[in-house]
Amino acid sequence: MTQTAQYDPSRLQDIVEAATVLRNGGCVAFPTETVFGLGVDATNPNAVQRAFVAKGRPSDNPLIVHLHSPSQMDLYCHSIPDIAYKLIEHFCPGPLTIVLPRRDSIAMSVTAGLDTVAIRFPNHEVAQRLLREVNLPIAAPSANRSGRPSATTWQAVIEDLDGLIDGVVCGEPCGIGIESTVVDVTRANPTVLRCGGVTLEQLHDVVPNIVMHNQQVDSSVNSPGLRHRHYQPTAKVVLVDSVSEMDHASNFFESDLRCAYLGINKLSEAITSKLVHYSYCNNEADYATALFRFFRECDNLGVQLILCQVVDEIGIGRALMDRIRRASGS
Ligand code: TXA
Ligand code: MG
Repeated sequence: MTQTAQYDPSRLQDIVEAATVLRNGGCVAFPTETVFGLGVDATNPNAVQRAFVAKGRPSDNPLIVHLHSPSQMDLYCHSIPDIAYKLIEHFCPGPLTIVLPRRDSIAMSVTAGLDTVAIRFPNHEVAQRLLREVNLPIAAPSANRSGRPSATTWQAVIEDLDGLIDGVVCGEPCGIGIESTVVDVTRANPTVLRCGGVTLEQLHDVVPNIVMHNQQVDSSVNSPGLRHRHYQPTAKVVLVDSVSEMDHASNFFESDLRCAYLGINKLSEAITSKLVHYSYCNNEADYATALFRFFRECDNLGVQLILCQVVDEIGIGRALMDRIRRASGS
């Protein structure tokens, strides 16, 4: 296959070209405020199939449909409850995905046979320009090979998908760095299926009866994506509760393993001198922004073990810990 085209988002002609490729059934990755998405026309089953193949994604894991405006929603979903409009009013455009009853205009493979479709309005100028130019619903899973850390830079998209997709709209690294929050509003109580860029606390303020899905307790919720292996670098990811635990984890550093550390707390010089790579974050939000990029840097440096500091599961810390736990395989 030919090499993947690189589009410059500051050139109008490049956006027009990327939109033409999408309209003709191609696969084009683009930046959003969360992570890069791998866009395809959600009304075209062949295009959708290409995204599943490029990613190596299991076909039972449905995709999120990206729109530029809520005025498009009626074309792709029906029976939209008031709560959905309330969520849109407060959080969209933004890192929130809303699960709604689907219309047949969306290809069946997008929703993996479910009778619902996940809709999102990205809060990203480049994504919005592209979506307006295409003016079709764009299904976009995260633009990484399935199971790998999501791509938060266009270089990471190329690393995973070069030659497998038609193009990537380049641009700046993603600001949030982890994916959108997914809320199912088709259930009696609105249910958070995946935590992400919009926090549970923010949602609670607007929708007091919102509940957090717990796969262990309730397996009735149909979000197949929750079952699959996710976010894993080649290196093994290990959670460390505190710096004092790190200080006692001398077995890691005395071994021959190539180790790395990502967290907020600083380490002693005695430890950092033994690390192949480390980075300190100012707060939980910075940590989330850095996470997937750091994982990929570690892989490129041949790191074997990545130590990640545990943070409190409040605010963005909840989504961050979810990603770190899944990356660690627990
Ligand atoms: O921030 C994001 O959401 C990024 C950017 C590109 O928009 N996209 C993203 O897509 O993370 P993906 O494919 O990596 O994750 C989609 C998630 C999966 O957990 C999937 O199971 C869930 O959304 N999902 C999609 N459609 C669904 C549906 N109809 N019902 C329940 N869950 C759904
Ligand atoms: Mg993904």
